[in-house]
Amino acid sequence: MRTSLHGKLIIFLLLALPLSPFQLFAQTKSPRERILINEGWRFFKYASMSDADSLIYDVRPVVINEQDDKPADSRPTEAVKVERKASVLKPWIMPTGNSFIKDPQRRHSRPTGNPGTDFPFVQKNFNDNTWEPIDLPHDWAIKGPFQQGQNSEVGGGMGRLPSHGVAWYRKQIDIPSSDKGKSIYLDIDGAMSYTMVWINGNLAGGWPYGYSSWRIDLSPYLLYGAANQLAIRLDNPPSSSRWYPGGGIYRNVWITKTSPVHVAQWGTFIKTRNVSSNAATIDLDLTVENTSRAKVSSSVSTNIYILNSQGERTGNPVARFKPAIIQIPGKETATTSGSLTLAKPRLWGPVPEQQPNRYVAVTTVSVNGETTDTYETTFGIRDLRFDPEKGVFVNGQRIELKGVNQHHDLGALGAAFNKLAAQRQLELLREMGCNAIRMAHNPPAPELLELTDSMGFLVVNEIFDGWELKKTPLDFHLIFPDWYEQDLRALIRRDRNHPSVIMWSYGNEVGEQYTGEQGANLARKLNLIVKDEDTTRPTTLSMNYAKAHMPLPGVSDIISLNYQGEGIRNGAAYAGLKGINTPPVFPEFHSRFPDKMILSSENAATLSSRGEYIFPVFKGNSAPVLGSQGGDSVRLQVSAYELYTVAFGASPDKVFGSMDKHPFVAGGFVWSGWDYLGEPSPYYQARSSYFGIIDLAGFKKDRFYLYQARWRPELPMAHILPHWNWPARTGEITPVHVFSSADEAELFLNGKSQGRKKMQEYEYRFRWDDVRYEPGELRVVTYKNGKSWANDTVRTTGPAQLLDLKADRNNIRSDRADLSFITLKISDTAGQMVPTAKNRLRFSIQGPGEIVATDNGDPASFVSFASHEREAFNGLCLVIVRAKKGQTGKIRLVAEAEGLMPQTITINTTAD
Ligand code: GAL
Repeated sequence: MRTSLHGKLIIFLLLALPLSPFQLFAQTKSPRERILINEGWRFFKYASMSDADSLIYDVRPVVINEQDDKPADSRPTEAVKVERKASVLKPWIMPTGNSFIKDPQRRHSRPTGNPGTDFPFVQKNFNDNTWEPIDLPHDWAIKGPFQQGQNSEVGGGMGRLPSHGVAWYRKQIDIPSSDKGKSIYLDIDGAMSYTMVWINGNLAGGWPYGYSSWRIDLSPYLLYGAANQLAIRLDNPPSSSRWYPGGGIYRNVWITKTSPVHVAQWGTFIKTRNVSSNAATIDLDLTVENTSRAKVSSSVSTNIYILNSQGERTGNPVARFKPAIIQIPGKETATTSGSLTLAKPRLWGPVPEQQPNRYVAVTTVSVNGETTDTYETTFGIRDLRFDPEKGVFVNGQRIELKGVNQHHDLGALGAAFNKLAAQRQLELLREMGCNAIRMAHNPPAPELLELTDSMGFLVVNEIFDGWELKKTPLDFHLIFPDWYEQDLRALIRRDRNHPSVIMWSYGNEVGEQYTGEQGANLARKLNLIVKDEDTTRPTTLSMNYAKAHMPLPGVSDIISLNYQGEGIRNGAAYAGLKGINTPPVFPEFHSRFPDKMILSSENAATLSSRGEYIFPVFKGNSAPVLGSQGGDSVRLQVSAYELYTVAFGASPDKVFGSMDKHPFVAGGFVWSGWDYLGEPSPYYQARSSYFGIIDLAGFKKDRFYLYQARWRPELPMAHILPHWNWPARTGEITPVHVFSSADEAELFLNGKSQGRKKMQEYEYRFRWDDVRYEPGELRVVTYKNGKSWANDTVRTTGPAQLLDLKADRNNIRSDRADLSFITLKISDTAGQMVPTAKNRLRFSIQGPGEIVATDNGDPASFVSFASHEREAFNGLCLVIVRAKKGQTGKIRLVAEAEGLMPQTITINTTAD
């Protein structure tokens, strides 16, 4: 601890006024309570890491090279060994993970002593009035400011936002005396990162990996009938990620209270087998914990109910597991299993082919006839099969994986989880025809899996981007040896009942791809852990380097290939580029592993900025952004002809061709569904990615329609690009491309045919590459099987005249979590969006609402997301609005731009 700070804190301490405690825990009859404690926290972040206290988890290596613009597929390197001189708190944190370490010999016992106990921030009477009042989920970095320039502390790779740093969160929780004897837990769904928790001055535990969900038993440290002081320290390293991790307690935090005899954390596992529309066998493994000293005999019973599409329990139980008696010694857990057959089950399956029907199992635990716990497990009944020749079968039906990769951030909201924002992401992806999500490259928020369950998406649940070898100087490799088992088991136990999760991926492009048998041995260890936890789902790991003859691919059940399936830096346009160079390897893997299903876990890595078009246009079907080809390195924009890629990528067209040539491939996951913060390849001066099919603000790029055409071939659709406002290009070649589910199309410019084209084999777009620009109207008329199919028109617009506001939701609840996403479109007098409009906009609000964030999807904008002023980007801007807590009425959002009429939209807010 630094004395200067210490001194100041002692003064604070003397002046401290206790925070007025408030009643947190409503008394209910239910023996189990799960209470969200997101509101009313105080937050403090040190101005710089060097100012911070010394309550560190461990010593970290000195970062020598902070450069973060390495190509994503460059080879990871060995970890730097660190010498530990300072005293560290790791030994007190390790025991938190004990229940996820299988071998009792390897579990950790808490050392004596209580580090930090004298530190002012953990004291109950420390005055935190000057700290920022905040509610969770909270991302301390998202408001910025963005750090610009080549030598900034945080570079483009991590999104140029200050996510690194040491910070504290404090909150008092009232525990009534009636809670005496209960088990009381703190459940943290995700905190970024190296979190340590003090309660009433006692270091109770913590968890380093920022994406894991974890629990701390507060019971030994609580004061009953009193306010209890929580103090949580986070220490998020710089140079720790290849994307924006966010910083802070960015997911929900709960207090769980139970009687001493209760279902253990994630203590149910429901498996379904022999599934048909006539019947299904349901197996239940149940673990009950007894935190009292005495041995108990408890009886357990579980009933199954149908959930409706709103997730509400309906009617009477449709099945019951035979009640069982279990003996649980004091301070131990015991497990019991049961099976039943359910007739005529309503199966869970992906939309649109099937319905995502769900059930809930309600478990009751009782001791001496008194109920000590009721616990609900939502699950789905489905049969999965993974066929090496044909791909994924769900309930006997072949389902092509039409997937995308998604990082965890929610654009302008940052990492702070919001279920509605996540739902908005999924809804747009669904509209495109997407049916599968790969959680790149870390455990998602639990609510995201509730959404994928209820909306019927298939999920690859992935945990690590690296193992022992490092990708960035302070990434997960630092804690991998100590924590991989706990993180992996915790993920599986948390997520194993979700029907949407169809496989476990324990690694993405790990450095161990390069280390032969040694890497494969580590993979085997991880594979065994997964199998030990769950035998019902296959394992996988994603490989961009390992080849079929190497030992690594043999380890997991499913072969997941990143980019190399269709070939990396392969084809004339990519010749001579430095880095991994691979011909298409689908056939090689298929013949080497005839029993394993193959999927493409990452493909495309196409780049574009919404509404930007750069000339001349590449004549082939895929090319890297190189010099002025496809990109503008001054304006930091990439052409949206959707032909340009990172050096190791391939355009959608090239990927589709490869898939069609290799029908045994189960489908794949595009890199990426939405743009995300960080990794702004190829322009690391920017802040957010160019990879998304949908931009960071949630606006569709042209590519959306290329995928929709392929994934929803039955939907009559045609989409023309580019826009037709090119006053400086009159007479110049301005190629016109059309994305459509049709097989034939004719383009007209000002009524004059530019030719009728038939889609040829391995072609996925219509293109008229010799059109000479003249203002007016472009119209495409399409046909399918000779019949008229879908048309589209694009016109040269007039100047910007109108501000048009549209909300995705006009009624919101006043609970702070509910949001309205409002799109501002700048249009001409005819109401057509002006595709080049970049007017500066000002937003203000009247009534019981507030602007949470604004964005326009421009990867190179450094205007803070918190700003109420920003330019439109190519005609569009986004404003995210919420109601003030508990206030109802009409929220009026006003948009203004110089020279244009202000516009207002009204959102109603009602009580929660
Ligand atoms: C892959 C990597 C992803 C992302 C992508 C695009 O190699 O797995 O995390 O970096 O490239 O650059």
